[in-house]
Amino acid sequence: MAYQITLIPGDGIGPEVIKEAVRVLETVGDTFGHQFDFEEVLVGGCAYDATGEPLPRESLDSCQKSDAVLLGAVGGEKWDGLPGHQRPEAALLGLRKGLGLYANLRPAILHESLKNACPLRSDIVGEGIDICIVRELMGGIYFGEKGRRTNNDDMGEEAFDVEAYSVGEVERIGRLAFEMALKRDRKVTSVDKANVLESSRLWRSVMIEIAKDYPEVTLEHMYVDNAAMQLIRNPRQFDVLVTTNMFGDILSDEASMITGSIGMLPSASLGEGKFGMYEPIHGSAPDIAGQDKANPIATILSAAMMLRISFDLENEAKEIEEAVTRVLEGGYRTPDIMSDGCKLVGTAEMGNLIIQAMSFE
Ligand code: NAD
Ligand code: IPM
Ligand code: MN
Repeated sequence: MAYQITLIPGDGIGPEVIKEAVRVLETVGDTFGHQFDFEEVLVGGCAYDATGEPLPRESLDSCQKSDAVLLGAVGGEKWDGLPGHQRPEAALLGLRKGLGLYANLRPAILHESLKNACPLRSDIVGEGIDICIVRELMGGIYFGEKGRRTNNDDMGEEAFDVEAYSVGEVERIGRLAFEMALKRDRKVTSVDKANVLESSRLWRSVMIEIAKDYPEVTLEHMYVDNAAMQLIRNPRQFDVLVTTNMFGDILSDEASMITGSIGMLPSASLGEGKFGMYEPIHGSAPDIAGQDKANPIATILSAAMMLRISFDLENEAKEIEEAVTRVLEGGYRTPDIMSDGCKLVGTAEMGNLIIQAMSFE
């Protein structure tokens, strides 16, 4: 079977990590007899430099015509001075909205062999950590009304970004979280700021309504400030953590560190149907770009999520995930997850090792 994949390498370390994920996918394709047709497009700072727009029409068209999208990262200091709508980050938001991707699954799983890279004490980590963060991706403060105005006071110009959520927006992400919980440990923690924000009070009431349809699932509510603390104090209490666009952005970077590094955490951005955009949660990491230091595992695991979720290729996805586990068990580490007694490797070598570790009986 042939699958059409749009590739968005983007900026900074984006092209470096995408290269390794593509080599892994090509190996899977050759071995299992699947045809992956890749089309590479420009999005982000590189697109702005080439065309004057961060999200050229043909790039979005390519994504819309494909079966799935694999994205590296966008952004960098070079484009930080541009007006908001021309920034690389605006292109990423435009893609998510343009492709109808309202849900972002960010699985934070600590590999047994990375316990030394996790900054938490071993008694806190216990038997291990496996949290599924479900981040709302098409609403909230990222997409609310924004602007600048001058009021009749002596405080100068004011800027604003509105956090707004409709019942329908909360309902679709909430149902997805409960469905995920059914396949896992049957617990949903909904993270909000309902003690202060009206949008959070609506969020919470919708979650309570959804829970009535899922009597097997336990629903807990937690304020976001407490959640940030609880992730460190006792991460094992979480199963599915569902939250808003911005809270999910912040808490998933925090959770990634519990897995050893932000370079480990993949994600799937989904809407209705099988189509998805797969992206590591990290950014373009300008501080290490072009130095063969980036950890490609988050992107390689994102490719595995693509095979599983968009293409129903469960065995192929597992093959990749197990190869990653074996390489980590073998003691190979990029600098971000390095610890004593391990073998330091670069981005490309990590890709080679994962390809070699795929067993293909
Ligand atoms: P970042 O995630 O790029 O980097 C934060 C830190 O983590 C850096 O020290 C970096 O070296 C390290 N890091 C990130 N990914 C790594 C990897 N794969 N391997 C090893 N180390 C890794 O976040 P930032 O520095 O806040 O942002 C840099 C740029 O990326 C900004 O322009 C930002 O807007 C953009 N950004 C893009 C995305 C995306 O495209 N999805 C996500 C986050 C940030
Ligand atoms: C992420 C990033 C993006 C976000 C930025 C670059 C727009 O931080 O994917 O986590 O905030 O969603
Ligand atoms: Mn982020």
